[in-house]
Amino acid sequence: MRMYRALALAAALGVLAAGCTTDPKLAAPKATFVGSEKCGGCHVAEFRTWKDSLHAKMIRTPREALLKDAGDNWAKDGKGNAGPTKGNIDGKAAAMADVVYVVGSRWKQRYLVKNPATGNLQFMDKQWNTVHRQWEPYGQKNDWETQCATCHATGYRITSYDPANPATQKVAMSEHNTGCESCHGPGSDHAANLGKRPMFNPAKATKEQSSLVCGYCHVRKENYNFKTAQNHPREDQPHPVLGESYKAGQDDWRTWYPDKMLIPGVLPGQPVSKNYPNTDLNNAFFLDDKAQKWGSHDARKHHEEYQEYLQSSHYKNNLLSCSDCHSPHAVPGKAAIEPMKTCAGCHGNAYDPNKIMPGLASTAQNLFVRSHTFNKNQDRPGGPTATNKAEPAHYYAK
Ligand code: HEC
Ligand code: HEC
Ligand code: HEC
Ligand code: HEC
Ligand code: HEC
Ligand code: HEC
Repeated sequence: MRMYRALALAAALGVLAAGCTTDPKLAAPKATFVGSEKCGGCHVAEFRTWKDSLHAKMIRTPREALLKDAGDNWAKDGKGNAGPTKGNIDGKAAAMADVVYVVGSRWKQRYLVKNPATGNLQFMDKQWNTVHRQWEPYGQKNDWETQCATCHATGYRITSYDPANPATQKVAMSEHNTGCESCHGPGSDHAANLGKRPMFNPAKATKEQSSLVCGYCHVRKENYNFKTAQNHPREDQPHPVLGESYKAGQDDWRTWYPDKMLIPGVLPGQPVSKNYPNTDLNNAFFLDDKAQKWGSHDARKHHEEYQEYLQSSHYKNNLLSCSDCHSPHAVPGKAAIEPMKTCAGCHGNAYDPNKIMPGLASTAQNLFVRSHTFNKNQDRPGGPTATNKAEPAHYYAK
């Protein structure tokens, strides 16, 4: 191990001497994305446990991941709600057989069919709520590739873009889902050199840097720098340079086109204590008297964990990063963390995570993800969460 590190450092210093980079911690500047399968060839335990995690299961083919409940109830659910029948953008009829990908599995599942106008994928008009086992209206009139994929894929990049005509934009990604390189940065140089060249390891970064990696996706924002193919503000944050992807551990996305971004709680001058009407951030945080008094604003919509976490004393006092309570994979010699059991190690019985972290952020009808503000006065009653939900059954036999 020690030997490898010494070599890695020497290699990094070599690069530094050549004037290509300014920080030896940063991997080779010219590295490209090689895909998780490649990393798995050497990092067997990480690959196996990542493959089993939700990060690897976000977007899959219907054969792999159509939920049994949804498939069985495709026409109508047990409560009489009709299932999906058409594409959201073109309004054309679509059937189960037209679904190219399914998105999600734990809280909800959404269905992608072709959008012939752009060649991209569009959503169908209903989503499946996995806990309440029902169809619900879903109305996003944007392509998957230009509204969602940055947070649901790895190595995403816009390759051509005309601000006067966003419909003609072209995008690319190195793989679907949150692959190894989403959190470790591109690894071609490291992989081709038997692991002897550096790779970003969040465990060796500051708590701030480590959480920033997760924050790229576990956040809610509104982007006016790039539009969707349907000419709406985007909800993700592609790299400002065409052809470039976000590089975890190297890029600070907070500094990208800040004048054209709304990221409450992250960018200065955009507090979480005020509302942003007519944007996707409308009612995104609790702003009532209680929240103003506590000075902590729980999320009302899902994927805002980072913005909630920045408000906590855990973050403000540099105590913990996201990965101190969450293992994206197991690593050799260190079992995966059980998040609910972490509190007792430091607080004894003082804080019950069920009370401190109620389900407040809506992800589907009457279904919530847990609060991450870590407020000791928390007394909001939580709604149903997906905690303790059984592994889902699939429609197609494996
Ligand atoms: C050919 C084998 C090989 C491949 C392929 C490979 N690695 Fe590694 N990796 C290693 C070895 C060996 C080490 C240990 C190096 C050390 O201790 O300095 C390592 C170390 C690491 C570390 C820890 C670095 C540190 O400083 O603590 C990370 C993170 C990592 N690899 C991620 C990846 C990712 C992500 C990929 C795919 C892009 C990948 N590796 C592909 C062999 C490989
Ligand atoms: C490229 C975007 C991206 C990055 C970076 C990312 N996540 Fe996620 N994360 C997601 C998405 C998308 C899901 C939902 C996956 C699903 O339900 O299929 C998710 C789900 C989760 C979950 C809930 C599922 C589970 O396995 O319990 C946790 C916890 C989580 N992420 C923690 C983290 C942490 C910690 C980091 C940083 C070390 C991180 N994520 C980085 C996109 C990302
Ligand atoms: C969601 C973010 C995320 C994803 C995806 C991810 N990792 Fe990691 N990885 C981390 C974090 C965080 C750590 C530091 C863990 C810790 O705190 O010990 C880490 C640590 C590592 C290490 C160093 C282990 C050690 O002993 O120090 C290796 C090697 C590694 N990851 C490889 C991989 C490989 C290979 C994949 C894909 C199969 C992968 N990672 C996917 C976040 C991620
Ligand atoms: C800024 C990043 C980001 C964007 C943009 C984004 N998502 Fe997500 N999404 C996440 C994260 C992170 C999670 C998991 C954590 C959570 O829900 O709090 C998630 C969860 C989901 C889930 C639930 C997964 C499950 O297992 O139940 C679905 C479905 C989903 N997203 C679909 C979409 C669609 C469709 C779009 C585009 C219209 C989109 N997302 C845009 C980050 C994002
Ligand atoms: C590594 C140790 C550690 C872990 C693990 C940990 N905490 Fe903490 N937590 C602390 C420390 C130290 C503080 C005090 C910070 C300060 O001085 O304000 C704190 C602060 C808090 C506070 C705010 C207290 C206040 O006075 O405002 C709450 C609530 C809390 N933690 C809940 C939790 C919950 C719930 C969990 C588990 C999900 C957890 N903590 C896990 C160390 C930890
Ligand atoms: C002090 C510990 C702690 C920290 C720090 C922490 N989490 Fe969590 N997180 C938890 C616990 C506990 C759960 C609930 C797990 C369960 O229900 O089994 C959870 C759940 C989640 C979920 C799933 C939502 C749900 O309702 O199950 C996501 C996504 C997530 N965390 C992301 C993050 C991200 C991103 C960060 C950093 C910005 C972070 N967490 C920091 C303890 C923590």
